[in-house]
Amino acid sequence: MVSRVIPVDPFDLIIFGGTGDLARRKILPGLFRRFCAGQMPADARIIGAARADMDTAAYREMVSEAISEFGGDIICEGATLEKFLNQIEYIPIDARGEKGWAELQEMMSRKGRVEAYYFSVSPSLFGDLAERLQHWGMADHESRIVVEKPFGRDLETARTLNKTLATYFSESQIYRIDHYLGKETVQNLMAVRFGNMLFEPLWNAQYVDHIQITVAETVGVGGRGEYYDKSGAMRDMVQNHLMQLLCLIAMEPPARFDPDAVRDEKLKVIRALDPVAPHHIARGQYLAEPGDEDKNPDYRNAVNDPRSRTESFVALKANISNWRWAGTPFYLRTGKRMSARSSEITVVFKETPHSIFGEEAGRHRNVLSIRLQPNEGITLGVTIKEPGPGGMRLVDVPLDMTFADALGDQDADHVDAYERLIMDVIRGNQTLFMRGDEVEAAWAWTDPLIKGWEARNDVPKPYESGSDGPTVAIELMRRDGREWRKVSL
Ligand code: BG6
Repeated sequence: MVSRVIPVDPFDLIIFGGTGDLARRKILPGLFRRFCAGQMPADARIIGAARADMDTAAYREMVSEAISEFGGDIICEGATLEKFLNQIEYIPIDARGEKGWAELQEMMSRKGRVEAYYFSVSPSLFGDLAERLQHWGMADHESRIVVEKPFGRDLETARTLNKTLATYFSESQIYRIDHYLGKETVQNLMAVRFGNMLFEPLWNAQYVDHIQITVAETVGVGGRGEYYDKSGAMRDMVQNHLMQLLCLIAMEPPARFDPDAVRDEKLKVIRALDPVAPHHIARGQYLAEPGDEDKNPDYRNAVNDPRSRTESFVALKANISNWRWAGTPFYLRTGKRMSARSSEITVVFKETPHSIFGEEAGRHRNVLSIRLQPNEGITLGVTIKEPGPGGMRLVDVPLDMTFADALGDQDADHVDAYERLIMDVIRGNQTLFMRGDEVEAAWAWTDPLIKGWEARNDVPKPYESGSDGPTVAIELMRRDGREWRKVSL
């Protein structure tokens, strides 16, 4: 099966922070892939803008290196890197001063094109950039801005950021990225829920015992120690990525697949979340890899703070107080240096109410697991008769649908979240971006949890590198008579 590529309108994409890590790792290689796929019009322009003094030729050289380092195996038939690079320009710019702005304004004087400004910079510069764009006449109602996480570090800072951006741009112009929403299978979640009759009637507290959401990583904090130690797993992953997954799995069916209809439903889920009691949260910090302490030190060494209380793992039990979900807990867990890189959502249905096959056959339950990465796919555990003579013995087997097998090894599998999201910005589709009120509601739920453990001086429990987190996380589930799914490959 060959995926269809719909070309987008001519655009100018300005990347502030165009020499930074995100631009080199994700944004520029992603744009090159879209170019190769034939989605980028020949007169589209990408303009890198950053502090560094360099000319366009040097910037193109940097882009070319970034593509060979981070582009993976880009298949680019017919199109050449040369052609792509010819569509790229560079302007040295000062976000807080005058340098570069007149040149940028001059470049942007061509009308009738989509104008998108990507703020791939520290959030402390968002306000300055927005103000400069307005001052130089580039913040007209047609232009769009793209902002990255972290969007604030608590409710107050997120509110301030929202207010600042709202001074210059309307909500319909602001694209807040959560790259989890750009992942293929995350969108498939919506397709599976709302494109099939099979699941929706059972998707509620009457039939679902509980839901687990796991985002496990094998990497440690690496070179990001300074940022991470001020953030921790709750701010870095739960407030945004896991929250988005929770919303998509728990929301009511929107009337249409349109940006505000979807985001309204997600917002209702966040607002219906109960506060989490301290004994329903487990925090952890990873230990060094035995025998490999130099390369894989423990968390505290990695962040250079022997007394750090920041969590690299968190697990919690969340309850959604509404008619659909009251009584069905959602268990969320994420951590670094765990046993495998695996993101999975598991819907565990209730046991059959009665076994017609007698006590020996036992009571069984269906388990639907949606794997986001790697090996994207869906598995439904069903109960069947164990083959052969000897009576009615029941056994649970997986009905496995790995998307790559079912659909062939097609392009969609390799579309990175960033390239999909950037094309959505150009198309003007905000469905997969977070609205300001959603972000604030997510902080309003997260803030008291963080403040609570800060006030209690809570110290995260150590856990082995390569394990599935500290034992307190296992106990969190066991107390409820339930078990975490094994973190699988
Ligand atoms: C980022 C976090 O938002 O997501 C990182 O800041 C994390 O700490 C990353 O590693 C995980 O993304 P992915 O796409 O690799 O699952």
